[in-house]
Amino acid sequence: METLSKVFEDKYNKNVKDCTNEEIYHGLLSWTKEQLKGRGYQEGKKKIYYISAEFLIGKLLSNNLINLGVYDEVAKYLKENGKELSMIEEIEPEPSLGNGGLGRLAACFLDSIATLGLPGEGIGLNYHLGLFKQEFKDHLQFETPNPWIQPESWLTDAGVSYYVPFKGFMLKSTLYDIDVAGYENKAIKLRLFDIDIADESIVGEGISFDKKDLLHNLTLFLYPDDSDDAGRKLRIYQQYFMVSNAAQLILDEATAKGCNLHDLADYAVIQINDTHPSMVIPELIRLLTERGIEFEEACEIVSHVCAYTNHTILAEALEKWPISYLEEVVPDLMPIIRKLDERIKAKYPQENLAIIDKNDLVHMAHMDIHYGFSINGVASLHTDILKETELHQFYEIYPEKFNNKTNGITFRRWLLHCNHPLTEYITSMIGDGFRKDSFELDKMLGFKGNQDVLANILKIKQDAKKRCAEFIKANTGEEINTHSVYDIQIKRLHEYKRQQLNALYIIDRYLKIKAGEKPQRPVTFIFGAKAAPAYVIAKDIIHLLLCLQELINNDPEVSPYMKVVMVENYNVSAAEKLIPACDISEQISLASKEASGTGNMKFMLNGAVTLGTMDGANVEISQLVGKDNIYIFGESSEQVIEHYEKADYCSRDFYEKDERIRRAVDFIVGNELLSIGSEEHLRRLHHEIVSKDWFMTLLDFEDYAKVKDQALSDYEDRTAWAEKMLVNIGKAGYFSSDRTIEEYNRDIWHLTPEK
Ligand code: G1P
Repeated sequence: METLSKVFEDKYNKNVKDCTNEEIYHGLLSWTKEQLKGRGYQEGKKKIYYISAEFLIGKLLSNNLINLGVYDEVAKYLKENGKELSMIEEIEPEPSLGNGGLGRLAACFLDSIATLGLPGEGIGLNYHLGLFKQEFKDHLQFETPNPWIQPESWLTDAGVSYYVPFKGFMLKSTLYDIDVAGYENKAIKLRLFDIDIADESIVGEGISFDKKDLLHNLTLFLYPDDSDDAGRKLRIYQQYFMVSNAAQLILDEATAKGCNLHDLADYAVIQINDTHPSMVIPELIRLLTERGIEFEEACEIVSHVCAYTNHTILAEALEKWPISYLEEVVPDLMPIIRKLDERIKAKYPQENLAIIDKNDLVHMAHMDIHYGFSINGVASLHTDILKETELHQFYEIYPEKFNNKTNGITFRRWLLHCNHPLTEYITSMIGDGFRKDSFELDKMLGFKGNQDVLANILKIKQDAKKRCAEFIKANTGEEINTHSVYDIQIKRLHEYKRQQLNALYIIDRYLKIKAGEKPQRPVTFIFGAKAAPAYVIAKDIIHLLLCLQELINNDPEVSPYMKVVMVENYNVSAAEKLIPACDISEQISLASKEASGTGNMKFMLNGAVTLGTMDGANVEISQLVGKDNIYIFGESSEQVIEHYEKADYCSRDFYEKDERIRRAVDFIVGNELLSIGSEEHLRRLHHEIVSKDWFMTLLDFEDYAKVKDQALSDYEDRTAWAEKMLVNIGKAGYFSSDRTIEEYNRDIWHLTPEK
C-alpha cells in the first residue's frame, strides 16, 4: 500500500488519515487507474468489438479493486487509518450510460471478456447526462438530467478522433476510454465516442432541449424522447455517429495489425447488440468500397464480420426507420441500404424478408440477419420463439445462423462485490474456486440437510435485510420491518413486465386486511423502476404504486401487515443494496415476452426464491432448481401465443365475471386512491386494464395470487425455506456471464484467449 500512501502525499500533501472521504475517493481513483494501466490490455490478432447503445456499468471503484485482487488489502489499509471503504464507495457517481437489462448485460459481458483473457472492446457513446434521473413529486415521475462526468473520472482521453459525415456537415469525434479489469487478468477498454462541443447548458426544464441543435445535443442523453420526428431523427444521428466511429476505429486497428481489408474477418468480429448499432453494416461497406474494395466483395467481407443479438420480440423495439429519415440524416448510407435490399429481393421476393418494406420502412433487424453470419436469442425459450414464430421466415432460409446464448451475470459484481458476507461464507464452505469457475457453487448442495449451514444462510439474509432497510429509509423515508418478507420487483417499467399485476395483488391483500383477515407475517413490497418519459401507461403504473405506498404505509390498521416502497431513481447501486436482501424475486412477465431477464439470476445467486411465469430464463432456472425451489404460475408461452393468434383474450370478460378481480381493479378509481392521486392518471390506467390489457394481466391474476400466497405461507417453515435458498445459490453457477461468453466465443467469435 506504499504506492497508495504516496498518492495522498503527492496529491494533497497529507497522510491518508487526514484526508476527507472525497480526497480519498479521488486518490483511489487515480491510483486504481494507474494499476489498471500497469496490468496491460488483452491483445491478439482478432478482436471482438461489442457495439452497444448502452453500457450500464455501475460504479467502478470496488469492482476494479476486486478484479485487481486488492480489495481486501485496500479496505484493511483504510480501516487501519480510520476510514471505511464502503463510505468512500458512496462518493462515486454512478455512470448513467444504460437503461435496463440490455445495458447491464453489456457491462457484465465486458467483465467476462476481460476475465477470460479475450481480446475485445466495448464501443458506445459518452452520454453526458445519461439516461434521465428519476424524481418523485406528487406521486408522479419527473425526469431531470443525470450528470455523472466529473473533472476527475474513469474516462481517459484516448487521443483518437474521426470525422463522421452527415448531410451537409461533418462532426469530429473525441474518444474516451474506460478500462475494465478482468478478474485476476488484464484489462480491456470500453470506448466511448463523444463530441467536444456538446453543451449541457442547452437543457431547459426537466430534460427538454432543442432536438434539432445537433452540434450541441448529440451526446447529451441516452434515448432522447422519440415521440416526435425530431426525436426519432436524433436517435438516428446518435446511432450513425456511434457506428461510423466504430467502423473507422475497427478498420484502423485491423490495418495497423496487418489486415489488407480482404481478410478483415481474421481481425475483427462485431457483435451488434440489439438493432441500435445495425447501421454498422452499410457503414463498413461504405468505408470498404471507399478504400477500393468492390461492392460485392465488401458485402461478403462484412457478412463474415457481423453477428447480431436479438433481445426482444416486442415489435416496438425492433427498429424500423422510414427511408425519408435516413435520406435526411445518413444520405451516404441510403444507396447502400437500397442495394443490400435489392440483392435480397432478387433472391427472396417474399415481403416479410425484405429490408425495405412496401411502406418504405427499413427493417434494421432484417438487415442484420441477411448480412450477419450469426443471430442469437438470449435464453432458450426466446431463441425457440424466434425460430418458430417471430423470425421463422428467416430461420427457414438460414437455419445455420440461428443459435442460443442464454444470458449471464458477472459474479464479481453480483456476489463478490454486492454481498461480502455471503461470499465469505461460501468461501469458508467450499473454498474460493467458485470465483473463477462458477459451477463449483454446486458444492453448496452438499450441505442441504445441514442445520447449522441453513441457520447461517438465514442469518446472512437477515443481516442483509437490515442493511437494506437503512438504504430504503435513506432513499424513501419509509421505515420497514426487517422481519417482514421482502418481495422485490426491480426492473424497467413496462406493461409486459407486469408491475401492474403485482399492484393488483397488493390491493387484494389490502382489502383482505381491511376486512379483518390478518396475515401471519408482514410483507414489504419493494419496487424500483424507471418509465420511459413518453410512455404514458408506464408512468400511470408508477403513479398507482406511489399512491398505494402513501395509502397503505399510513394506514395504522394495515401497515403493521404490509408496506409498499418504491425506490427513487432505481439504478445499479440501488440493485446492489436490494438484491442481497430479497426473499421473493418477482419475475412475472407475460410468458413469451421477456427474452431472458438477468435480475432473476442475480436474485437467485443471492438466495432469493423466484416467483415467476415460464418465461425467458425463468424456464432454465426452474429446470435447474426443480419445482420445489421455485414458484411458477400463469399460462405458458404456447397458450399466450395462441391467445394472440386467435385474438381471443378479452380482459373485460375477466373483469366482469370475477368479483375478486373487479374489486381490485376498481379500487384503482375508488375514493381511497382518488383522494391521494390524480384522477386523470388513475382513470386512464383503469380503462387500459379493463378494456385493453395488452399483456393479459387479468388472465394470470388468480393463479398469481394463489401461488404467491403459497410462497408466503411456505416462508414460515424457515428451515425448508433456507433449503430452497441453498439450492438456488448452488444452482446459480450456470448463469455466470463467463459461461455465456465462453459460448459466444466457442460458437461465434472464435478468438484465442491470452494465456
Ligand atoms: C432486455 C430484455 C431482457 C434481457 C436483456 C438482456 O432487457 O428485455 O429480457 O434479459 O435485454 O438480454 P430490458 O431492457 O428489458 O431490461
